[in-house]
Amino acid sequence: MPFYADSDKEEIRSRVDIADVVGECVHLKKNGSNYVGLCPFHSEKTPSFSVAPAKGMFYCFGCHEGGDVFAFVQKYYNYSFTEAMEYLADRAGIKLAAGAGSPDSGRFREKRDALIEINTEAARFFHDRMKNTPEGQKAFDYFRGRGLKEETIVRFGLGFSPAGHNELFRYLREKGYADDLILESGLAVHYDSGTTSDKFRNRAMFPIFDMRGRVIGFGGRVMGEGEPKYLNSPDTPVFIKRENLYAYNIAKKSRSRRLILCEGYMDVISLHQAGFDYAVASLGTSLTSGHVSLIKRLGVDVYVCYDSDKAGTNAAAKAIGLFGEAGVRTKVIHMDPAKDPDEYIKSFGADSFQERIMTAENSFLFLMGVKSRDYDMSDPTEKTAFYGMLAEEIYKAGGALGWKSYTEAVCKKFNIDIKAMEQAVSEAYRKMPVVTADTRMEEFTGGEPEALADRRTARAKVRGKKEESIFLPQKKLLSWLAEEPGLYSCIKGVITTGDFTGDAYVTMAGLLFNAIESGNVSVPAVVEQLPGEYKAAAAECFSTVLEDAYKSDKGKAMTDLIVRIKEIHIKDLEENSDIGDMSVQQRLMVMRSELQKFKQKGIRF
Ligand code: UTP
Ligand code: MN
Repeated sequence: MPFYADSDKEEIRSRVDIADVVGECVHLKKNGSNYVGLCPFHSEKTPSFSVAPAKGMFYCFGCHEGGDVFAFVQKYYNYSFTEAMEYLADRAGIKLAAGAGSPDSGRFREKRDALIEINTEAARFFHDRMKNTPEGQKAFDYFRGRGLKEETIVRFGLGFSPAGHNELFRYLREKGYADDLILESGLAVHYDSGTTSDKFRNRAMFPIFDMRGRVIGFGGRVMGEGEPKYLNSPDTPVFIKRENLYAYNIAKKSRSRRLILCEGYMDVISLHQAGFDYAVASLGTSLTSGHVSLIKRLGVDVYVCYDSDKAGTNAAAKAIGLFGEAGVRTKVIHMDPAKDPDEYIKSFGADSFQERIMTAENSFLFLMGVKSRDYDMSDPTEKTAFYGMLAEEIYKAGGALGWKSYTEAVCKKFNIDIKAMEQAVSEAYRKMPVVTADTRMEEFTGGEPEALADRRTARAKVRGKKEESIFLPQKKLLSWLAEEPGLYSCIKGVITTGDFTGDAYVTMAGLLFNAIESGNVSVPAVVEQLPGEYKAAAAECFSTVLEDAYKSDKGKAMTDLIVRIKEIHIKDLEENSDIGDMSVQQRLMVMRSELQKFKQKGIRF
């Protein structure tokens, strides 16, 4: 981290709201002064991911990932610290000192920025040519002819690439862009013969945006018949097809708990125009695990809505498999008798499409339907094999709890006798190897930060999960003080670091108290000063949620917390110290009597 001053870091932390930054990637719900959502860093169905904006920290109680806004951006976008710094400074409108940043990342960023700038310039050019030239009118008419409103055309920045051989190239050159950069952007192609031509000529243009809404490339469609139907920008340092989805920048902000995954640009645009602002498509490639993890972050159910032809059905089956591996739930929207969602909306309207969403098929049933095509049902041997395959798949998918309802649904779909199938599934089960426990559960039984907090007291964990953690009162106190540092003056001296249990908490308390006394409380800065092995425990500590009682009767709440902390500390000392050690025994006596006195007096604010 040698390239930026700590003051830059603090400035960014104070100007950027961590809840905003995280909120762009995770659906957050308010929970007291914190926010909660599904953790983007591990697979989960109930939210254990928490953001504490007052403290500038996030923490996942499931996988123990935690830290400040820099840590989040680094982890989520896979940025180096320098890149995270630049990304956040950019958001906050802070100019970093010139020459800052490592030379390599600076060069990379310059290249990235330049490529985005040149693509943005090209998008403006295409849009302008569509609106303001006679030949461009063709593209406008084409889009209108396909049912797009002018407002939609503008919203998606659609345009027209002139038919001439290098109009864009000359335009960009005039704007001062170097030939090399223009070629690297893929907007123009250089031939051995020595000529340079525009990549896109006489096409209806679709700019493609990254997740932050910046233009990174294009798809261009022939207007009418012709090959290829769509031409796409080649992969460049900013246009990475396997990591970007069309309209993801809009869909990620949708309020819907669903996401529609379709095949084409036009499908997405039609859906958005019809009010389904949560539709995305891949960029002329099949779905990748990169796309899946982008989608998984949103914590939504995916409705796969591919073309109804054979290729579309096969692609859907593959996509469902990828989502399944990642633990993302899917359903399948059927488009027949239409070819794709764009046609469907045009023929049957948005309400009818909404019905298709509501009646989307369970993806297991869909997959079985796809498999059924491999069997010739008029051949008794193949038919039996098909039923045998179904029986096995039913048990694998439904497990001990679900197999009956899966059997029912499958029998209904394929018109099979239920009793016979139940029998077959039971038999398939008997032949199956023993199923081991769901390994994913292990993620939730770790409790690592506490274990790390102090070896001596780690055995507290062994007492079982139901018992209140011996660290909880001190977590609450520290979390509360971090949020309301003003309270510290009233408890100063009443409770000291010596009352805390566990080395991690003693250290945390010391640093936090110092920070408060110096009048400059930054929780991330406190955490930064901690030894590495305490950082996760600290992120957890400062993410502790306080009940409303702490806001209504602060005096009583504070008194109770301090009493608990002192009691626990005394008990810990009693259990862990040598009875023969007189100095400890003396200290214990003093502590007990001070605790008695404090109980009578309490804290008043
Ligand atoms: P489709 O062939 O299904 O076309 O391609 P579509 O979306 O229905 O297009 P319209 O309605 O005829 O305009 C789906 C997607 O596959 C990619 C594009 O991303 C397209 O949106 N594609 C298709 C290509 O990249 N190149 C092609 O030649 C065809
Ligand atoms: Mn189409």
